[in-house]
Amino acid sequence: MNFHDQDGDLYCESVPLAAIAREVGTPYYVYSLDEIGRRAGAYRSAFPDALIAYAYKANANLAVLRHLVALGVGADVVSGGELWRALKVGTPPHQIVFNGNGKTPQEIAYALASDVLCINVDSAEEMELVAEVARARGVIAPISFRVNPDIDPQTHPHISTGLKQSKFGVPITEAGLLYQAARAQPFLKIVGVHCHIGSQITQAAPLLAAAQSLRDLTLRLKDDGIDLALINLGGGLGIAYRDERPMTPHEWASAVNAALGYDSANNDSTKIGGLQRARIVLEPGRSIVGAAGALVGQVIHLKRTSAKNFLVLDVGMNALMRPSLYNAYHAIRPVRAAAAALTADVVGPICESADVLGRDRALPDLKRGDLVAVMDAGAYGFSMASRYNQQPLPAEVVVQGDRWEVVTQRETWEQMAARET
Ligand SMILES: Cc1ncc(COP(=O)(O)O)c(C=O)c1O
Repeated sequence: MNFHDQDGDLYCESVPLAAIAREVGTPYYVYSLDEIGRRAGAYRSAFPDALIAYAYKANANLAVLRHLVALGVGADVVSGGELWRALKVGTPPHQIVFNGNGKTPQEIAYALASDVLCINVDSAEEMELVAEVARARGVIAPISFRVNPDIDPQTHPHISTGLKQSKFGVPITEAGLLYQAARAQPFLKIVGVHCHIGSQITQAAPLLAAAQSLRDLTLRLKDDGIDLALINLGGGLGIAYRDERPMTPHEWASAVNAALGYDSANNDSTKIGGLQRARIVLEPGRSIVGAAGALVGQVIHLKRTSAKNFLVLDVGMNALMRPSLYNAYHAIRPVRAAAAALTADVVGPICESADVLGRDRALPDLKRGDLVAVMDAGAYGFSMASRYNQQPLPAEVVVQGDRWEVVTQRETWEQMAARET
């Protein structure tokens, strides 16, 4: 079992979080490998023919990545650094898609040299750049266009990416012309279409509308003689941070198959309603790792003022930026359960008023040194962490069954300064 109580102590699988803290100190991130495996497995079984290209941006810890590669999960990468990690953990290049709206010529060259499945091109300008880099290397670049279907994903504006005001993708209304232009380029090979309308999406309707837009575009392109081999629907399935009820991968699969006109029972069909049966690619991030991780810190003070109580932890927005950046909610609980006795804002040690992990939380009367867990922190946690205020990056620990291992050492002050002259 993922995170659970046993006689009042919080465990990850069979390991008490307090036992890890005794050896590793705080703050640390902890990830349940079995939970990650279960969630990746749900995608693999719901979409047996699809490429599940895990979004590295959510959590690019090498131990997590190795676990996913062993389960047959591919990679969605958005930088040379993420591509390097994907190759380092042994991801087959034909399971790697390269996204991003600002790839450098060097990164494009690296992707081509690595023989990735597909470069998802974000603009007409980037198409020219990819063609130029491919020409210089004497290779043909496999590309999809990231289209922007102008759909409101009904999530936080900072994680909405599919509205026409967003910086991502080409407007779907202009995509036809770009595909024609790409077809005329000798160093480009069109392989598919991509879209990603946002993250933490908890409603089915926007995701379905995006799938339908891609189907319609694919059909129009087919009429123009352009057959797509890949339909990449991006990531975006949300998780239950509080009481949200996002779709499961299986629900998403039935909806996608219906939206694309695919009969999931008939895998051989090559044409459905005029739509060439293209391979589905998905790029889930949060829904694989989010609920499988927690951030553990300890209490420095319970500060009481006439206006408010503040539970001051040894960790804050430096390690988990989502509450400050998106006003995101994370459940926060003591590692040793006790009855709630007060209401407090849970804050970190960073010199910013935005350094709040949770507002007005009902908590026990905690003491210095008590451990506190910020739940559902496996996605966009460590990967967005900073060293602001010269706070070392936290340690990372993986758990499987009753075994656990530190997979990222906590930084020392010397290591933080090591690259400076
Ligand atoms: C292009 C792309 N694909 C996939 C993802 C992963 O999204 P999520 O973590 O919501 O599944 C993102 C994240 O925003 C993204 O930008």
